Amino acid sequence: MHSQQNVKVLIVDDEADVVALMGTILTNHGFVFESASDGVEGLARAMEGQPDIILLDISMPKMDGFETCRRLKNGSGTQSIPVVMFTARTDRASRIKALQAGANDFLGKPVDSTELVVRVNNLLKVKKYQDFLEDHSRILEMQVEERTRKLKEALIDTVQRLTLASEYRDEDTYIHVKRISYYTEVIVKEMDIPPQDAEIMFYAAPMHDIGKVGIPDSILLKPGKLTAQEFEIMKTHSSIGARILRGSDSPYLISAEKFAQNHHERWDGKGYPRGLKGEEIPLEGRIMNLIDQYDALRSRRPYKPAFDHDTAVGIISAGDGRTDPGHFDPEVLQIFLANSDRFREIFAMNQGI
Ligand code: C2E
Ligand code: SIN
Ligand code: SIN
Ligand code: FE
Repeated sequence: MHSQQNVKVLIVDDEADVVALMGTILTNHGFVFESASDGVEGLARAMEGQPDIILLDISMPKMDGFETCRRLKNGSGTQSIPVVMFTARTDRASRIKALQAGANDFLGKPVDSTELVVRVNNLLKVKKYQDFLEDHSRILEMQVEERTRKLKEALIDTVQRLTLASEYRDEDTYIHVKRISYYTEVIVKEMDIPPQDAEIMFYAAPMHDIGKVGIPDSILLKPGKLTAQEFEIMKTHSSIGARILRGSDSPYLISAEKFAQNHHERWDGKGYPRGLKGEEIPLEGRIMNLIDQYDALRSRRPYKPAFDHDTAVGIISAGDGRTDPGHFDPEVLQIFLANSDRFREIFAMNQGI
């Protein structure tokens, strides 16, 4: 007989002579065994001892075998341990009840020594295979998670560098990227947006102006006001950005495309490039239209000085002839006004050195 040295069998039976008999058979075949004399003790031993297999009697004091089996199969520490229940070969009702309780196999009573060893060995083989599969899929899952995380980090890093490259002419620092993400987070938190989508928007939002790469220095860096013709060229940055980002399967780039395409649309329909109105404007556009203006107002540009927080909020909430509160999604505007201190903090805390 091959060695079963490390295999531990738990026998749960209130009849001491049955336990002694089975224990002897198992020992003779090289198994190690432990016993418990009722269901309650059996559960405790199964938890502590982590046996490889459990042999379970049906009628016992305190807790019968069916209930014990159900609890074993519902317990997170014991549910994968195979359970063999003793049943009289002819007792069909008990067998069905045992199956319903989650038993893996049956053993006729009185116990036949060959049958006992065969059943135990068969179940151990199945268990080994299940353990192998479980370990294998756990390892695979971990590897996939790790790779997904690395890919995501690489994507985000690339995207942030690309964003920086597109803006280095009119934005002094990388910090601008962070600010845009943080403002987006403040608005999105107050909206009914699933957390995964919120996280995607967090990273996608800073790409809204990526199309500025396509605008010549003579316009982008012009120290004064743009002519009407220059502004027409400037306006193409929305569509240029959308074109750069279009056609990806990445949820980050799909979201970024919406930010780029729609961030200068206005709620009243007077924005660009398409003149969409109200909820026709994808949410990304409605959010970014406001965030972008707050940050642009606070920042120095070749064509304008930086304004302080109260001035920026005043321009957004009361209008200044160029900007008008009617440009904004009322819900986004309301969230902005209710959280404008957060915007002030984010701007103050995220400055280049
Ligand atoms: P940006 O500088 O990032 O500004 C983004 C948006 O913030 C602007 O979109 C506008 O809605 C708002 N904004 C910026 N500065 C002011 C301001 O002084 N007053 C008010 N009320 N709102 C302001 P917009 O107008 O569609 O402009 C898009 C981009 O076109 C700007 O991005 C900037 O790069 C460029 N641009 C706009 N006006 C001028 C200008 O007079 N001179 C130059 N050189 N560039 C301009
Ligand atoms: C961050 O703060 O860098 C990440 C937070 C987020 O994903 O919302
Ligand atoms: C979207 O198009 O990006 C979101 C649609 C919405 O919630 O309005
Ligand atoms: Fe823009």
